[in-house]
Amino acid sequence: MQKAKVAVLVSGGGTNLQALIDYTKNNNANFEISLVISNKEDAYALKRAKNSNIETEIVLRNEFKNSIEFENKIKQILKEKEIDLIVLAGFMSILTENFTSEYPNKIINVHPSLIPSFCGKGFYGLKVHEAALEYGVKLTGATVHFVNEIPDGGKIIKQKAVQIEENDTPETLQKRVMEQAEWIILPEAVNEVAEEFIK
Ligand code: GAR
Repeated sequence: MQKAKVAVLVSGGGTNLQALIDYTKNNNANFEISLVISNKEDAYALKRAKNSNIETEIVLRNEFKNSIEFENKIKQILKEKEIDLIVLAGFMSILTENFTSEYPNKIINVHPSLIPSFCGKGFYGLKVHEAALEYGVKLTGATVHFVNEIPDGGKIIKQKAVQIEENDTPETLQKRVMEQAEWIILPEAVNEVAEEFIK
């Protein structure tokens, strides 16, 4: 049995990448992480990949004339490595239709809120939790969804709710949403989708 080949796109700390790596180590998963691509040279996620002997690539937006050329470079790498599924795990760059239309139902993103709340353009990382606290919602969570041309607008695969506590700061809330939701539902969702790609 050949597992689905997954590429994980990252920009930062890579705790969701770590959750995916740990899942493949602790379970007979339907997928393997074949490649990690970062759009930041200093992303700690790159170190996590290296620690687990996963191949890495760095593709910097400012080395290309425009987003299309930047995306085309990523597409080329994905083709060379015969990637089946792409996971955006804290990838802080919006991919345009030029990229998304090439991989229908093959790009998965994790977002730190219950979509359709606090999502779309401008809502990423800590900003999402700041917005949830400012609004005063009592419940938030995380969503794993397919990626299409609408930011955070693709079909939902999994969601998990997380309680907001009285003294939460954006940082404490981010940590709880990661621990109680993101790190659990992201690997589970990828594993479910990957089942289709087993050869
Ligand atoms: C995670 O909370 C992820 O859901 C969020 O950024 C963080 C990345 O952390 N992504 C977005 O906001 C995308 N819109 P990580 O690098 O430790 O996985």
